[in-house]
Amino acid sequence: MKKLSTTDIISKKNREKIVMITAYDALFARLFDEFADMILIGDSLNMSFKGERDTISATIEDMIYHTKAVKNGAKNSFIVTDMPFGSTTNIKHTIKNAIKIYKETSCDAVKIEGGKNIAPHIKALCNEGISVVGHIGLMPQKVRFEGGYRIKGRGEDGLNKLLDDAFAIYEAGAFCFVLEGTLSSVAAEISKQVPVPVIGIGSGLHVDGQVLVWSDMLGLFEDFRPKFVKQYLNGATLVKEAVKSYKDEVKNSLFPSENFEYNK
Ligand code: KIV
Repeated sequence: MKKLSTTDIISKKNREKIVMITAYDALFARLFDEFADMILIGDSLNMSFKGERDTISATIEDMIYHTKAVKNGAKNSFIVTDMPFGSTTNIKHTIKNAIKIYKETSCDAVKIEGGKNIAPHIKALCNEGISVVGHIGLMPQKVRFEGGYRIKGRGEDGLNKLLDDAFAIYEAGAFCFVLEGTLSSVAAEISKQVPVPVIGIGSGLHVDGQVLVWSDMLGLFEDFRPKFVKQYLNGATLVKEAVKSYKDEVKNSLFPSENFEYNK
């Protein structure tokens, strides 16, 4: 697959669905590269990779380390790195942190959670020449503040708030955005009205693309499984079966058999 630019991604709106998947290392990024338009180094790595209870303690250093690893594996996908919690507290701080991520990792864009409140930050980044992916709807970085993961877009106010957020970040310069955990009908309306691609997660079918966390869709993350996650592989069971076979063979002196020995 040819590597896409920001304008290629925008031009997919209403033409072709965008496939985004997360990755945190070179090994899996190499496997996904052939199929994904965009790879996201999401701060979800803090949960599924590092075992923390939410994304909040992810650091800029974590994001840089994992983006460099993904870049080593993915040669064609458009690479997006999450700005972690606490890295966008004011505009100066946001610019400094985004420039650090952009320069040290050579990612293609950064992703920022936030709506109307974060639009001036997005505008400032775009003025610096940094491509920005927005993230509105359910924002995992707000989980402690909101007391859980809450579906967005309920009622007229819910729709209007999301439309305000969507237009604010679009007008600030976000070339596409993730819309998470939103009623399907509301996501469809936002996607219809806003001119840039809307990449849904837990937001139904009627958006411009989808993103899933790789360890969720491969069935490897067992701690919790949201309704919207489709498991395309029973990863945890397969891995456990394989490791159990290895254990049994070692315990019973069956591995390494002759085929796996050096005899000359
Ligand atoms: O951190 C992440 O993986 C994300 C996706 C859920 C979109 O932001």
